Amino acid sequence: MMPLVVSEIVRETPSIVSVRLESPDGSPLPPWVPGAHVDVQLITRHERQYSLCGDPADVAGYRIAVLREPASRGGSHYIHSFLRVGSRVWVRPPRNLFALDDASSYLLVAAGIGITPILAMARHLAAEGADWRMVYLVRRPDDVAFAADLDALGDRITTHASAEDGRLDLARLVSDTAPGTAIYACGPQGFIEALSALDDELPSGGSIHIERFEPKPRKNRPNEEFTVICSRSRITVTVPEKRSMLDALRDSGVDVQGSCLRGICGSCALSVLDGQPEHRDSLTADEESSTIYPCVSRSISPQLVVDA
Ligand code: FES
Repeated sequence: MMPLVVSEIVRETPSIVSVRLESPDGSPLPPWVPGAHVDVQLITRHERQYSLCGDPADVAGYRIAVLREPASRGGSHYIHSFLRVGSRVWVRPPRNLFALDDASSYLLVAAGIGITPILAMARHLAAEGADWRMVYLVRRPDDVAFAADLDALGDRITTHASAEDGRLDLARLVSDTAPGTAIYACGPQGFIEALSALDDELPSGGSIHIERFEPKPRKNRPNEEFTVICSRSRITVTVPEKRSMLDALRDSGVDVQGSCLRGICGSCALSVLDGQPEHRDSLTADEESSTIYPCVSRSISPQLVVDA
């Protein structure tokens, strides 16, 4: 992980701060494109994923934003209560599971703290001269974060404050898009589940792309013990019924990254060379996928062979 230093903290709303992170010696940071996130580890050892919401052309610093979560005793609580300019954090290079695909037009939908990746996308699409618009859902008008950045992007952005404007009709929002529109959305779980159930409302050629902060609700098979053969390290690992595959691999000395441990960040991805994985993550769209996220996923077949 890269040691970075907090160079600026800005209160964006009563419950959101943005944090700028820079290299201690001013050296440029690894590049990223809109939709990317970083794993941030605090001095408390809490590790969380945050979308990058700054400008990719600004190689001197990353910008993230953090919502104060009243129940948090971890990352959110620490950042809001104790993080200061000059504090040190540790960051993995950006990964992107939410990149913009080519489309004839774009609808960006942000709810609450979901503004973070969407802001970077809006800035990029505006710079590219793309056909785009954005809807930003908040509870009250003073919950709007990055107001100056959004103003600078012009009148393609509509803010919807539910306390004043009522509940937004998401089905209508989706069905009113032009054919071929790519919808990119990020926000709390209820909003994401509601939006991802609206595929049938899409005009032809449209698509919905979502970024989750919380794992997708799933019904899993009962856990069973299985065996993993690691083809590169030539280690065979038994995964007990009550232990995750990631933990079992690490217990046996297999070097596998991991960050969220909830199947949403993608950092623990492994390629399956043989066997049938049981995907329990929130990233896999195709049940036949040969990428497994061992922090949560297991095996249907008694044995898996993975590239590790
Ligand atoms: S550690 Fe995040 S997906 Fe596995």
